Amino acid sequence: MKASFNIRELRCTDTEALLAFEKQNRAWFESHIDARAPSFYSEQGVAEHIDGYLSDFARGVWHPFVIEDAVGSIVGRANLKGIDTASGVAEVGYRIAQTACGQGLATQALEHLIRQAQTRWALTQLVAYVFPENAGSRKVLERCGFVPEPPLQSEAAAERRFVRAIQR
Ligand SMILES: CC(C)(COP(=O)(O)OP(=O)(O)OC[C@H]1O[C@@H](n2cnc3c(N)ncnc32)[C@H](O)[C@@H]1OP(=O)(O)O)[C@@H](O)C(=O)NCCC(=O)NCCS
Repeated sequence: MKASFNIRELRCTDTEALLAFEKQNRAWFESHIDARAPSFYSEQGVAEHIDGYLSDFARGVWHPFVIEDAVGSIVGRANLKGIDTASGVAEVGYRIAQTACGQGLATQALEHLIRQAQTRWALTQLVAYVFPENAGSRKVLERCGFVPEPPLQSEAAAERRFVRAIQR
């Protein structure tokens, strides 16, 4: 039977579940994306992180989501970041638990972010930054219509910028 997942907004009651998710996958995430500060990995660190995200959501500059499995464990996260409604641009970010990868969750999460960007925030462009060796993430982005920008010579080893236009 196909596993069922649910994408919903981050809540202030998610501290324990989010800490478990981030701790279990710390080495996995750190092998693909920049490491978080060690102080993040505690109840207080995650509670402050959630507070920051929810106050940025209230200010209209961030839209944070989590992906839950059938028993309510967090198995992924996806965020619209740095939302700028004046210029119509935001950045996307996502991370999936190592044990939940390869089932299309990142693709589903990114499609959700694109719909939110279009319908809720009326944005016209999304951007993403990916390390060149992160083949899985590049595949997800390209499948969802993101196009890589050519790297500047000075940026050969740095993160690549991907861009997707959104139709109004
Ligand atoms: C990258 C990541 C988000 C992908 O999540 P996911 O739920 O497995 O993604 P999907 O299942 O939607 O799609 C991944 C695709 O990439 C492919 N893929 C994964 N690793 C790959 C690799 N090393 N080389 C080539 N293809 C790869 C998968 O086979 C899949 O393609 P398919 O559906 O045609 O089989 C996940 O691995 C992750 O969270 N990594 C750590 C954090 C991270 O890198 N975040 C993104 C920062 S830009």
